[in-house]
Amino acid sequence: MSFSVTTPIYYVNSDPHLGHAYTTVAGDVIARHRRQRGEDVFFLTGTDEHGVNIARAADDAGLPPKEFCDIMSARFRALSEALESSHDFFIRTTDPEHERRVQDFVQLLKDRGELYEGTYAGLYCSSCEVFYSESDLIQPGNYCPLHPNKRAEWVEERNWFFPLTKWAPRLLELYDEHTEFVRPRARYNEARSLIAGGLEDVSFSRATVSWGVPVPWEPEQTIYVWVDALLNYRTALEYGLGRDVTGEFWPTNLHLMAKDILRLHGIVWPAMLLAAGYEPPHGLFVHGYFTSAGQKMSKTLGNVIDPFEVIERLGADALRFYLLREVQWGQDGDVTWEGIQRRYEGELANDLGNLVSRSLAMVERYRGGTVPEGVNALEPVHDSVAARLANYDLTGALEEIWGLVRTANRFVEERQPWALARSDQEADAKRLDETLYTLVDTVRALAVLLHPVIPAAAAKILQAVGEPGAVGWDRAGLGLTAAGTRVVQPDQLFPKERVSG
Ligand code: MSP
Repeated sequence: MSFSVTTPIYYVNSDPHLGHAYTTVAGDVIARHRRQRGEDVFFLTGTDEHGVNIARAADDAGLPPKEFCDIMSARFRALSEALESSHDFFIRTTDPEHERRVQDFVQLLKDRGELYEGTYAGLYCSSCEVFYSESDLIQPGNYCPLHPNKRAEWVEERNWFFPLTKWAPRLLELYDEHTEFVRPRARYNEARSLIAGGLEDVSFSRATVSWGVPVPWEPEQTIYVWVDALLNYRTALEYGLGRDVTGEFWPTNLHLMAKDILRLHGIVWPAMLLAAGYEPPHGLFVHGYFTSAGQKMSKTLGNVIDPFEVIERLGADALRFYLLREVQWGQDGDVTWEGIQRRYEGELANDLGNLVSRSLAMVERYRGGTVPEGVNALEPVHDSVAARLANYDLTGALEEIWGLVRTANRFVEERQPWALARSDQEADAKRLDETLYTLVDTVRALAVLLHPVIPAAAAKILQAVGEPGAVGWDRAGLGLTAAGTRVVQPDQLFPKERVSG
C-alpha cells in the first residue's frame, strides 16, 4: 500500500506562523500514522515562491527575488524541521526541475488544445493572486474579502486562458461519483455548488508579472502562479527523490489545506489534470482557520503567534498536541498562549506525564523494575482510533486516545496500588501485579498511539519500557508487553518549569 499526502506550499512573502505549522503538523500526523501501518508514504510540503506578491515583498526587503526567496524558504524549512515534520520532500517552486516541468505541462495543455488566447480585464488581489468580481469584494473600495486592508487592482491584458467552463460537466461527474472527494461535507457542498452555479474560464498566464515561469512559446508572459504552484504536487513526485515515483504515489491520496484555497484545489486543479490526461487526486481535506480573539490569524492582520517561540519554550510535541487538540479539525478556532500553557500543564504534564512517571516508579518500587505477570484490565482503543484516522478525524482520534489516558489515571486511583503493596495477602499481591502490568502495558500502548502526534515523548516512553522504536500499529493494542521486561524511569517528559520559566 502506498499513500501520498500534501500540505499547501506556503507563500514566502512573510514569516511562517502558527497557521502554516497547523497544516504541516496535520500532514505529519497522517504520514506518521500511515507509516506505522506499514504503508509506503510520500509526504510533501514546501514553498510557493513566484508572483507579484512575492516580487513586491522582495522589493520591500531590497533584495533580488531569488535571494529573498532563498532566505524566506529556509525559514519555512526550519519551521518544518523544528516541528519534527517527517516530510519526504520539501519542494520550492524556484527549483529548476520544477520550473521546467511546469513549462512542459502548459505546453502539453496547449498541444491538446486546452489553452486559448483572450483578453482579461478584472479586479485582482495580489495577496490572493486571484481575480475577483466586484460582488466578491468589499464595497466601497474593492477591498479583498480575505485581506480587508487590501484593495483589488484593475488589471487588463492579453492572456492564455484555460477553458474551465468546458470541464464543469466532468467535474460534476467526479463529485457525484466520489462523494468524499472533498471533506468535510460542508466543503464538498460548497465546491460542488460553485461548479453547478457556473464557472468562468481561468487566465493561465500573466503579461505584467515578470517573477514567474515563462510561457514556453511566448516567454514575455509568465505562467499564472497558481498553475505553477498546484503543479508542485505532481512535479515533486517526478524529481523530489531523484527518481520518478509517480507510478507509486500518483494520484495524490490527500491534499490538506484551509478553506480559502478550496476552489483552486477542488475545481481548477482536477480540471487541469483531466485536461492533461492525468488522474485527479483521491481527495481533499479542508481545515478551518486559526483565529485570535475571533479574527483570522494572518500576517496582514498582525495577530500571529510565533510557532518558533512556542517550540523553544515548550517543545515541538507540546505545539503539535495543542494544535490538534484545541481546535476541532475541520472547523475554525481560537488559539492563545494561555490555551497552549493550559493544555501543556493540564494534559501533557499532569494527565500523561504523571501517568507515565508514577506507573514506572511503582514498578521500580514494588517489583524492582521488572514487569510482573498480568492481563491488561483496560479496554483497548486502537481500533476506534484507526477508524477515526481513516476518516481523517484527527481531533476525534486524539480524544479517543486521551480517553484511555484518563481511564488509566482513574484506574490507579481505584486500585490504590500503594495500599495493595502494604498488604500481606496473596490475593493483593496478585492484584498489584495485574495493576502494575496494566499500567506499564497501557503506557506502552499509549506511546504507540501517540507517536504520530508527540513523536519525541513517545520515543522516550518506549525507551523507558524497553521497546525503543516499537511504534508499529501492530503494537497499538493492549496486553502485548512481555512479563519480565525491565523498565526505567524516563526523564521528565513535560517539565512544568517550562511554563512558568
Ligand atoms: N501558496 C498558496 C498555496 C498554494 S498550494 C498549491 C497559499 N499559501 S499560504 O502561505 O497563504 O498558506 C496557505 C495555507 O497555510 C492554508 O491553506 C493553510 O493550510 C495554512 N494557513 C495559513 N493561515 C492559516 C490560519 N490562520 N489558520 C489555519 N491555517 C492557515 O495559499
